[in-house]
Amino acid sequence: MQDALREACALLQQGEIVALPTETVYGLAADAFNPTAVAKVFAAKDRPAFDPLIVHIASRGDLKTVAVVPDDIAETVTKLISTFWPGPLTLILPRHPDVPDLVTSGLPTVAVRQSAHPVFRAINKALGHPLAAPSANRFGSISPTSAAAVIKELGGRIPLVIDAGACREGLESTIIAIEPREGKKPLFRLHRAGPITKEQLQHFGKVETVREPVGQSPRAPGQLASHYAPRTPLFLLESPADFQPEPGKRYGLLSYTGADDGPYVALHDWECLEALSPGSGKLAEAAIRLFFVMRRLDEAGLDAIIAEPVSETGLGVAIMDRLRRAAVANKT
Ligand code: TXA
Ligand code: MG
Repeated sequence: MQDALREACALLQQGEIVALPTETVYGLAADAFNPTAVAKVFAAKDRPAFDPLIVHIASRGDLKTVAVVPDDIAETVTKLISTFWPGPLTLILPRHPDVPDLVTSGLPTVAVRQSAHPVFRAINKALGHPLAAPSANRFGSISPTSAAAVIKELGGRIPLVIDAGACREGLESTIIAIEPREGKKPLFRLHRAGPITKEQLQHFGKVETVREPVGQSPRAPGQLASHYAPRTPLFLLESPADFQPEPGKRYGLLSYTGADDGPYVALHDWECLEALSPGSGKLAEAAIRLFFVMRRLDEAGLDAIIAEPVSETGLGVAIMDRLRRAAVANKT
């Protein structure tokens, strides 16, 4: 493994891009201070330049090299990062002038986090520069939670993938922007639901979900309606009665627990059935397995994937967000 880490570091130093594991999903990393390297990330992903990247720092002390934290939110930022970093919380902050325009798509803000993955951290530290890293998939497609999934998405387009097994969280980081409020706890604008839940953030401020208009929105492009999409049409049901199968079509079910007596499992003789949390119905397990299971169903040669809803509490908010985006993509 040490040799692989050295090779990754050498490539990054030369301005190359490398797919690396993080605790959320695999990322496609480049030296954030090297615009030529960052341009290769956009090219490999077919990502439009209006969609900014997340910058990953090796230590909390490096925050000042990429962002300028305003005095009126400094205390909140300190509390958040001492609670959640290293980990899956991304903060949108005013950018430092040294961060290339390409990284932030010309926005006055930068999205920053510190990954908790030991392999990612070791490479980030050894490079001595922050790493710009979006999820290592083609633009709009399902984020990879294994090295094999990265190779399916980007094989032949990138020189190296570091394989450190499956990702511990399975969903991309929670993204928030912070607004100070006179005499009150700050407001957190939730740009993307993720592993750090609304319930966890509420200790530190008031959480308000950013509602993006459906379609392309260059201001917060990560929240494009059509994202995380399998190639097979995916339909997210609101209730079992919504399933109206057409004769002769092959349907697969994305079930929560997969239990035989579940109202969705019992609906049909499914060609293929995948459970997010087999047996136990645990949201953390469902989050870890979501993209893996979506890929499995996508590769099963089905006419449609039918997804049953999960309860929208805790991690269920992020899971339902990804399912809705996977479904919307097929309707617009
Ligand atoms: O867990 C994660 O966040 C993973 C791992 C690799 O760290 N990364 C990831 O990156 O999911 P990406 O590029 O797939 O998603 C980042 C999102 C994008 O949707 C982008 O629009 C949004 O963050 N973003 C980046 N900078 C922003 C900014 N300044 N303002 C608003 N949104 C921003
Ligand atoms: Mg992504």
